[in-house]
Amino acid sequence: MTLRLELVLGDITAEDVDAIVNAANHTLLGGGGVDGAIHRAAGPELVEYCRTLGGCETGEATITPGFNLTARWVIHTVGPVWHGGGHGEPELLASCYRESLARADEVEAETVAFPAISTGVFGYPIEAATAIAIETVRSTPTNVSEVRFVAFNQETVDAYQSILDLSTGTDL
Ligand code: APR
Repeated sequence: MTLRLELVLGDITAEDVDAIVNAANHTLLGGGGVDGAIHRAAGPELVEYCRTLGGCETGEATITPGFNLTARWVIHTVGPVWHGGGHGEPELLASCYRESLARADEVEAETVAFPAISTGVFGYPIEAATAIAIETVRSTPTNVSEVRFVAFNQETVDAYQSILDLSTGTDL
């Protein structure tokens, strides 16, 4: 299956895809940023469902229904907090993308939207994080046919775009 990459500027909760990925925290009980937006859009059933899951480790991913969201599924993954890059952050961030695609494959989701995991509150430098996002998604075997990188601001769009421009043959 050839994987198509898309880059959009917008609110991930409005994306019409099979699954959206949430940049969650260990509790899975919501927070600010994209986590807060997804919980607000999904409605209170999401946090009630998440209470039954017992949390999530950094680098891992778990899938839930999307409830009131357009997307059928939410894939919650916990990115690494940036501590300078010498504490396994790159490997953990790559794992978030790999594990999220694995959860998508388990439910046969074909289209998946990702936020720029860890680049907000968790402080991961945008250039490094977007490079890991693109490289990991490109190198992970998956049946997902389309991955949409949803940037919430122009700086993030530019970071993704500069990586995509460097690599050959990316049609956006
Ligand atoms: N749609 C798409 N992207 C969004 C949205 C949205 N509605 N809201 C925020 N973002 C972007 C941010 O601009 C940033 O680029 O998502 C990216 C990730 O930022 P955060 O949401 O702060 O996530 P992260 O850095 O991974 O920190 C996770 O923040 O919200 C808490 O509970 C969460 O503790 C966890 C931590």
